[in-house]
Amino acid sequence: MLTHRRRLAAVILGVALVVQACSNSSEPTASNESTATTEVGETTLRAETQEQATQTDEIDEVEEPTPVDMMSNPWEANARLAATLNLGGVLEVDRGETWGPDLALDDIDTIAAAGFTAVRVPVRWSVWADETPPFTIDDELHDRVDAVIERALANDLAVVLDVHHFELLTQDPEGQRERFMAIWRQIAERHADQPPEVIFEILNEPNTNLDGAIWNELSAEALGVIRESNPGRTVMIGPGNWYSVLELEQLELPDDDNLIASVHFYEPFRFTHQGATWVEGADQWTGTQWDGGEEDRRILADELALAGAWAEEQNVPMFVGEFGALIEADSDDRLAWVAFVRQTSEAEGFAWGYWDWATFNFGVYDNDAEAWNEDLLAALFGS
Ligand code: BGC
Repeated sequence: MLTHRRRLAAVILGVALVVQACSNSSEPTASNESTATTEVGETTLRAETQEQATQTDEIDEVEEPTPVDMMSNPWEANARLAATLNLGGVLEVDRGETWGPDLALDDIDTIAAAGFTAVRVPVRWSVWADETPPFTIDDELHDRVDAVIERALANDLAVVLDVHHFELLTQDPEGQRERFMAIWRQIAERHADQPPEVIFEILNEPNTNLDGAIWNELSAEALGVIRESNPGRTVMIGPGNWYSVLELEQLELPDDDNLIASVHFYEPFRFTHQGATWVEGADQWTGTQWDGGEEDRRILADELALAGAWAEEQNVPMFVGEFGALIEADSDDRLAWVAFVRQTSEAEGFAWGYWDWATFNFGVYDNDAEAWNEDLLAALFGS
């Protein structure tokens, strides 16, 4: 069991925090007028959509489809996620914590310019939601999330919006069930008018007591809650045991024709997580190599092929939503591993999401120096 993910409070990441959404003063791109008025653009976007809908009703008796009705199929949605970057360590942190990356809105412009097609936005909603009904989510968090989504869309980046680190739920699925549904109801209603490029992901890496049958039940129920306000939105679901490929067999996808399946890929774990401060015993894994030899490659390719076979059987598109290796790994091994996992995923027809943007240990971007790690970038985009 991967209790390793329990993050030690002492995560050494120093520095500043979270999205500067509310305080950031950088100018939005000119390409999208809807971002020009405010950084917290949800209200603006929604108001414009409603106004357009009203005008349409007056002109044309035939009811125009809403953006969500025009939703493309999940294959098209997954194609938009072809080269995704995880905004790790930003909104996934606990309230008041900082893990290093200090996301300003113009960083999202830089991400788009580098060639990424989407951002995955991990958000720790549960620590911003009341403990008692109606489990209201703090507006401060909504505003930050809205600003990120707005800026991503303005850059033509698709967005995966997830529920991340809901630790109480994974410990006590029944006890947190109502709260989980209430959190999703609020997120879904707030973003119901977003374009199809915004994809909801039900829960990052269910684990511990949230596995197998209970996860199948809760994920289907959460999808039902989402469908109340978002009938046509693409929704992503992954298996238990931290989104392990080997757990796919236990995953029962709800009967719904707009789903993407997702797995996370950190194999061999002792290589990718060597020295991870939040993983018990990982300090003893430093020096673990991945030389990219035939046997090393075969093991990874076989596991990814399992995911491919499952996806084909289920007739569902697949997104490797996280993969990456810590900076403690030998740098040549790390680059070879990233390139191999990325290329193999592409060969399987999967979309991928690199973990992550700018944490000091996984990041492809140095937030302080405002510079890409060109070698890692080449591993992600090279031929
Ligand atoms: C977690 C991160 C972690 C990463 C790799 C993600 O799902 O949210 O905090 O660094 O996995 O372990």
